[in-house]
Amino acid sequence: MLSALKKYLLLPKLAKLSSNAPKDPRVAWDQYWGRVGATGARGDVLWDSGSDHELQAYLEHLTRQLDPNIPIVDVGCGSGVFSRALVAYFPYVLGVDVSANAVSRAAAESEGLERVSYVAADMTAPAGTRTVAVALAAAGFSGEANIFIRGVFHVLKRPSQAALAGQLHTLVGKRGRVFLSETNFRGNPIQYVSHLGATLHSIPGPLEKAIRALPIPGRFGAEQRRRAFPEARWDVVEDGPVTIETRPLTSVDRPEQIPGYFAVLQAR
Ligand SMILES: C[S@@+](CC[C@H](N)C(=O)[O-])C[C@H]1O[C@@H](n2cnc3c(N)ncnc32)[C@H](O)[C@@H]1O
Repeated sequence: MLSALKKYLLLPKLAKLSSNAPKDPRVAWDQYWGRVGATGARGDVLWDSGSDHELQAYLEHLTRQLDPNIPIVDVGCGSGVFSRALVAYFPYVLGVDVSANAVSRAAAESEGLERVSYVAADMTAPAGTRTVAVALAAAGFSGEANIFIRGVFHVLKRPSQAALAGQLHTLVGKRGRVFLSETNFRGNPIQYVSHLGATLHSIPGPLEKAIRALPIPGRFGAEQRRRAFPEARWDVVEDGPVTIETRPLTSVDRPEQIPGYFAVLQAR
């Protein structure tokens, strides 16, 4: 009881930290990516564990359910950490992010790597889908693409989630499929930050940077997916629980684990 109460004393601290975050999420993301330091296990980026352990768990679904002969678009690619890993399994990877700073970083971290490129676009808008189609055509691919999307739906508000899913419908066509993997933490923001090591006395650096700069995330599980991907337009090929890994926060080398949700979807 006492520890639960203590947790709630964190509320004013969190409110103060997040009070200067830009209200427009697109501005917030671009500022975040422009200011944040290194990526990886010792870096500043909360959701970058620096390990391929989480991806290994996805490969079973990606290799079994997605057509390996068409490109894959990593939507909300951030620093491109997953885009680079996906090159081994698909003929071409296009990373797309609303933040031009994220895209510059992803391109710099991918220097010398073939069959991967990046573009900046807001994927909740039809112009984003057109930008992706043009970039794929320039790389010699036309028509359908697979989609990989990690940790993006849970940072969007409900109307933007539906808008994003609508844009993905256009991109996948008949052959492409969507693989999504999202944080699905059952608890309020105080419980969430406590789970990631925040106490009244200290907040791990990468978590504090995210709180200061970014919109407050929500959760994205089966219920939220049903709303964003209506049954009339999408078939769920498979779905279930996954574990999302973050940068180590409460120890030197062990990533924190967040309950997550994955789904493989096909357009009707
Ligand atoms: C939590 S990060 C995940 C980054 C990356 N997928 C990963 O797992 O390392 C969410 C990413 O989504 C991007 N994003 C947010 N809204 C977006 C939008 N409307 N269109 C495209 N990207 C978006 C952000 O800029 C950010 O890079």
